[in-house]
Amino acid sequence: MKRSRIALLFVYSCFNIIMIFLKIFFYFLLHPSKLFTPRKIYTCPPSLQDQSLGMHQFITVNGIKLHCVISGPENAPVMLMLHGFPEFWYSWRYQIREFNKDYRVIAVDLRGYGESDKPLNKSAYTITNTVDDVIKLLKNLGVDKCTLLCHDWGGLFGWGVVLTRSDLVEKFVVMCCPHPGRYNDLVNLENDSLFRQWYFIFYQLPYLPEMLMRMEDFRAFKSLFRSRKYGFTNREIFTDEDMQSFLYTFSQNRAFTGPINYIRNVFTHFLREGIVYDYIYVPTLILNGEHDPFISTKMAEGHEKYVQRVENKIIRCGHWMQQDMPVEVNSIIRQFLTQN
Ligand SMILES: *[C@@H]1O[C@H](CO)[C@@H](O)[C@H](O)[C@H]1NC(C)=O
Ligand SMILES: *[C@@H]1O[C@H](CO)[C@@H](O)[C@H](O)[C@H]1NC(C)=O
Repeated sequence: MKRSRIALLFVYSCFNIIMIFLKIFFYFLLHPSKLFTPRKIYTCPPSLQDQSLGMHQFITVNGIKLHCVISGPENAPVMLMLHGFPEFWYSWRYQIREFNKDYRVIAVDLRGYGESDKPLNKSAYTITNTVDDVIKLLKNLGVDKCTLLCHDWGGLFGWGVVLTRSDLVEKFVVMCCPHPGRYNDLVNLENDSLFRQWYFIFYQLPYLPEMLMRMEDFRAFKSLFRSRKYGFTNREIFTDEDMQSFLYTFSQNRAFTGPINYIRNVFTHFLREGIVYDYIYVPTLILNGEHDPFISTKMAEGHEKYVQRVENKIIRCGHWMQQDMPVEVNSIIRQFLTQN
């Protein structure tokens, strides 16, 4: 991203951030008692221990224990799933159930997330490190080829894997995350694409973003999934038990800090250095949500410049597409995987 664009993003974000603080301020002025509501303890819901989603394993790479949920026939081709922010392996429940019939499915909690280790040092959370975790994880499991499914920030790591070790990836499915080159083109050209990233600036603040997420029984966190603006299009599908699975996971100690640290490193590690813009030969399917508040549908287009064999589809939903429209998303993926 160009320096002048970062400056413009900064100005725009400051306005948004001030609005957030004003809202919080007035909210507590009107409801002072809510400032002191005790922190709720969430228990682990049965959905997180559902045997049909796989067995839970810990695999150590780069000195970090990664939590993996593994299912499907042992000798079947491998499908690896990388979740987004702020999510964890459970975001893939509908794809796990669909694809573990004929794939060895591995859904992982990336470093800093869920039950995986959470290094304390902020500088541990870079694209390079997490891409390397994924490459070593495959090596550790003896996998030399996989189908890679990614969503949101997981997509960024997915592109990283495809760009550095294309030999490891048979087919690449990426949701709500453009090729870094395409991303860069658009945020440099266009205000809409740039301004949707205002949260990058917000998350640069220390402590406050974590506090805001947890405040008032995770009100802001819940609204990511349940509000009209950010949440699911298909509201009934995200059940109370699903919400509780997210709340249980993100109410653990330091559950937000690692995930947010990836964003804190965005300007120092991702946007200036670290990103390669090479051409990609791995067959790629790009899925975007028509109403995604974070990623404009323009991000889905224009990939011919970066990827040799690319298909893109726009799904009529918001950001959480693989959970929001699982039947449609699964069938599109299935179609992409069966053609050669
Ligand atoms: C964090 O990691 C960086 C780079 O690896 C290192 O220079 C720094 O000393 C570390 N900080 C702490 C507190 O360990
Ligand atoms: C983007 O926004 C800035 C400031 O609001 C404005 O000066 C500029 O012309 C806009 N650029 C485009 C391409 O719309």
